[in-house]
Amino acid sequence: MTNLEALEWRYATKKFDAEKIVPEEKVTILKKSFNLTPTSYGLQPAKLVVVKDQQTKEALYEHSAKQQQVLTASHILIFCIETEIDDFFIEENFKRIKEIRETPDDILAPFRDFLLKDFRKKSRLEKEDWATKQVYLAIGNMLTVCAAEKIDACPMEGFNTKKFDEVLQLKNKGLKSKLILPIGYRAEDDIFADFKKVRRPLDDVIVDFNN
Ligand SMILES: Cc1cc2nc3c(=O)[nH]c(=O)nc-3n(C[C@H](O)[C@H](O)[C@H](O)COP(=O)(O)O)c2cc1C
Repeated sequence: MTNLEALEWRYATKKFDAEKIVPEEKVTILKKSFNLTPTSYGLQPAKLVVVKDQQTKEALYEHSAKQQQVLTASHILIFCIETEIDDFFIEENFKRIKEIRETPDDILAPFRDFLLKDFRKKSRLEKEDWATKQVYLAIGNMLTVCAAEKIDACPMEGFNTKKFDEVLQLKNKGLKSKLILPIGYRAEDDIFADFKKVRRPLDDVIVDFNN
């Protein structure tokens, strides 16, 4: 499949074949894709929670307006943001850079000091908004990887984040859920699979500035 064929093939899957499980090696590809997603300043203020047991899926289904894709998916990926983006969090990032690239302290110091100062000025809400943008980027990246790997998926905002946080005990982990991506293989009777894509005309959404 070309990239465009993969993007045409994918759709927001409303019902998965509950018998078909995404193999572990494919799930690993998705986990690595999450981690390879670029983030602002490279700070990675996010974690991906992976749910595959049916009991937890059933609990989450109750808090996602009973949307079938949550119940029938092979796995549910929950995109979470870190709630504590503080000095320690930023320092850890620079420790990692130093370790992996062996970059000397004096080279790293100006950028590290800039980030420490910049983030100390941000309110909790500003940091949350910033981190949330990063998970939106990650889900976009993973939707494309899912399509390339022929894994079906449904990006979703339609769930109760507070209830998800409770079920998955995210507060203890310093996390908040923002988006979910049930993944699996489309059910034969998912009528949405055959629907034509509805998009604005290309001319309408692309502005070729120099023409
Ligand atoms: C951020 C985001 C949130 C979405 N939330 C839901 C949702 O809660 N439930 C759902 O069935 N579809 C949801 N969708 C799917 C969109 O409705 C769908 O992607 C869009 O209509 C385009 O259709 P396509 O993905 O099949 O091409 C969401 C999509 C995005 C990008």
